[in-house]
Amino acid sequence: MKEQIEKLFKENDLSDDALLSLIQTDECDEILAEKADDVRRKIYGDEVYLRGLIEFTNYCKNDCYYCGIRRSNKCAERYRMSFDDIIATCDKGYSLGFRTFVLQGGEDPYFTDDKICEIVSNIRSKYPDCAITLSIGEKSKESYKAYFDAGANRYLLRHETATDGHYRRLHPEEMSLTNRKECLFNLKEIGYQVGAGFMVGSPYQTPENIVADLRFLQMLEPDMIGMGPFIAQGQTPFAEFKSGTLELTLRLISILRLLFPYALIPATTALGTIHPKGREMGIKAGANVLMPNLTPSDERKKYLLYDNKICMDDDAAMCKNCLETRISSIGYKIVNSVGNVKRERI
Ligand code: 5AD
Ligand code: FES
Repeated sequence: MKEQIEKLFKENDLSDDALLSLIQTDECDEILAEKADDVRRKIYGDEVYLRGLIEFTNYCKNDCYYCGIRRSNKCAERYRMSFDDIIATCDKGYSLGFRTFVLQGGEDPYFTDDKICEIVSNIRSKYPDCAITLSIGEKSKESYKAYFDAGANRYLLRHETATDGHYRRLHPEEMSLTNRKECLFNLKEIGYQVGAGFMVGSPYQTPENIVADLRFLQMLEPDMIGMGPFIAQGQTPFAEFKSGTLELTLRLISILRLLFPYALIPATTALGTIHPKGREMGIKAGANVLMPNLTPSDERKKYLLYDNKICMDDDAAMCKNCLETRISSIGYKIVNSVGNVKRERI
């Protein structure tokens, strides 16, 4: 296995069989993390980029079986942030040093293309030095183009799983993997910096599914790869499923870093939820991005994709301080820059 890791380190690729074995053994985690950190430090040094997450609506017309804000969850308390509140949240984030805003929400028909464009163009003119990231699901190519023209320059859309059979088990009939993949290629074509990704340990996921995810990512060549553990949400059909593990998530972060040396890889909030030091461990395993929550606390408490989400009572300033302390304690530093990928495409 050592030679395989060396090969992965040198060539940024590995055969399906070798990847399968690597995913399934815990014997190489330490050396994988070491190599991943090596690669990451060569490209990104000790810098950790911040993305300020604004969860502006938890209405969603979709019904993904894993997600706490799925339309069938009648217990979810729904909210939408007003235009003014969204802008005020950016203002606050900007004054705290954030230079990337991620507007994330369910697929909420209330936010028409015109409304999204209005929000984006206002943030764009107020903060020309910031990156504006959208994470609002599957839309038509025309809609994506309109948001881009209004000033959005990044888009996050996890593919969730690249295997059709697995996709079917995570989503209702009306959703399709083909459409999701098409969305990602459309976004890239328009010129967005694109983020894809998947959950670790989602129900029915096999090691072969994970290899397929890695292969799909190699084909897409995204700038960002978001990957965190699945965590059950008590009001969803997957309430009784086990969460993804810390060990596998960290191992996969290291493998991602070795396969995609230039990628922006977040240590996710979900990772921080399954272990109190999960995000720090994620950074040490090769991640280089953190996405603290800027959402005002009343709304934040209602954006419950999964159970036991962290930072529910903390405001943006507290989270930033907290993360600065955590990250410097492990030998890295948080920077306030816009945090672009260090190469056009990874
Ligand atoms: N556990 C972990 N991650 C989840 N997501 C949605 N529901 C869950 C859950 N129960 C992730 C999905 C989605 C992203 C915004 O959050 O991958 O793309
Ligand atoms: Fe929110 Fe630590 S990051 S309190």
